[in-house]
Amino acid sequence: MRRSCRAYSAKPVERGKIERCLEAARLAPSACNAQPWYFVVVDDPALKEAVAKATFSQIVGFNKFTLQAPVMIVITSEPQKLIPFVGSQLKGIPYRLLDIGITAEHFCLQAAEAGLGTCMIGWFNERKIKAALKLPGTRKVELLISLGYAAENRGHPQNHPGQKTAPKHRKSLERIRRYNI
Ligand SMILES: Cc1cc2nc3c(=O)[nH]c(=O)nc-3n(C[C@H](O)[C@H](O)[C@H](O)COP(=O)(O)O)c2cc1C
Repeated sequence: MRRSCRAYSAKPVERGKIERCLEAARLAPSACNAQPWYFVVVDDPALKEAVAKATFSQIVGFNKFTLQAPVMIVITSEPQKLIPFVGSQLKGIPYRLLDIGITAEHFCLQAAEAGLGTCMIGWFNERKIKAALKLPGTRKVELLISLGYAAENRGHPQNHPGQKTAPKHRKSLERIRRYNI
């Protein structure tokens, strides 16, 4: 099971494991098979710190935990291809963002399988990230994922036997589903 991890150990993440997560992300479905994603893996400590620092400020500090994560994944997109763009406009459905969300979850589920913790980060300063990573102006930063081994007693029970984890806060099934009319 995946859950957001906001406390990481300093243990570096093996690139082989990162590649497995990227492969799972690569295989994600997307509208018109547009695959609108590009992944920048930031595991260089100085660069990673610059990216982490772009996710919080003095006023909004809830993402400070990203400083601990040994890796940050930056998911960017190119301008949308014509057919999915027109489809999005006609249907009022943001296909590109759906695609990004699905690939990000593929990544995170594979990471959980590999014993790694992740947290999707949607609150960040795009300008700072683009400057730190020298990203071209056409690329849009869509979502970040912090990645690393969970700090002791903060990960999935599978990886930390005996540990108690907080219950997930979710709406009940009754509130979010119905069958037919
Ligand atoms: C699009 C998106 C953006 C998110 N952005 C942040 C974020 O900036 N900071 C953070 O701590 N968590 C962020 N989260 C994680 C959610 O808070 C978390 O998934 C939710 O509370 C449910 O908890 P769980 O992931 O442990 O099941 C984000 C999740 C999603 C899907």
